[in-house]
Amino acid sequence: MSGAIAEGEGTGARRVTVITGASGGIGADLARVFARQGHDLVLIARSGAALESLASEIAVPGRSPPLVLVLDLLAPGAIDQIAAALRTAGVSPDILVNNAGFGLLGPAASLDTAEQLALIDLNIRAAVEMTLRFLPAICAARGKILNVASVASYFPGGPGMAAYYASKSFLLSFSLALSQELRPQGVTVSALCPGYTKTGFQARAGFGPGLGLTRFPGTAAISVAEAGYTGLMAGKQEIVPGFFNKVSVLLLPFLPKSVVLIIISRLQQNRVRPR
Ligand SMILES: NC(=O)c1ccc[n+]([C@@H]2O[C@H](COP(=O)([O-])OP(=O)(O)OC[C@H]3O[C@@H](n4cnc5c(N)ncnc54)[C@H](OP(=O)(O)O)[C@@H]3O)[C@@H](O)[C@H]2O)c1
Repeated sequence: MSGAIAEGEGTGARRVTVITGASGGIGADLARVFARQGHDLVLIARSGAALESLASEIAVPGRSPPLVLVLDLLAPGAIDQIAAALRTAGVSPDILVNNAGFGLLGPAASLDTAEQLALIDLNIRAAVEMTLRFLPAICAARGKILNVASVASYFPGGPGMAAYYASKSFLLSFSLALSQELRPQGVTVSALCPGYTKTGFQARAGFGPGLGLTRFPGTAAISVAEAGYTGLMAGKQEIVPGFFNKVSVLLLPFLPKSVVLIIISRLQQNRVRPR
């Protein structure tokens, strides 16, 4: 663990919650919920204006304002830059929220290869690197990690969003394993597994107005964030917000995988943006 020389550990640094992908959607609402609950925050994403505006919105008089780090988690050395910025600011994470992520809609064979690799790089590699880099500090603080996975994590595969579903299955598996490994050190690891939530996600993934589930309002991002916060604080390993999502996750193991794959394939075909 050479790169993880206990960032901020034992230095008396001020404790903060680090949230990736905080410029919009679920990440921004997570930031609102954490701020409301009195956590000092570090907000990370590429959109500086959106982060600054959120930081002013949630700043609490008399407390340190959120630290805004405008950067691309896919850029080489991005996580080193985050570690350096935290050191300079004299803060150390006791809670890490790996939320930044995106999806891509379409058959794997026809989607751009570089984009699919970037998805894996952000949804998997950046989340793992952030976790491993800040684990010594989180362990020292007996802190918490929240990985934003998806109900997609529970499916046998996601035809029409293959790389995305696989990336979220990875994140759930990684979170569950870590939660067990870190239990003796008093660290909890939770996977937040939302279903359809209207955010910037759909446009980025290439969803059209479609049929299927996209016609329904889904769960509000703020409800997802509130469920995520409550579950994280309760030390839950898996957090599935919303009744419909909970029922789907419970029923899935009883359905033949071949049937589930056909249903998902049809659902994704209905979402494709008309050309
Ligand atoms: N919405 C849903 O239906 C749904 C369902 C299940 C799970 N999720 C998961 O929830 C998480 C949040 O998604 P969302 O729905 O809130 O979508 P969103 O509104 O598109 O938010 C994605 C966030 O990730 C950030 N981001 C994207 N690429 C980045 C990069 N290279 N470097 C740094 N930050 C980056 C974006 O900020 P910038 O563009 O400013 O960088 C934005 O803040 C994702 O992991 C997603 O897979 C979403």
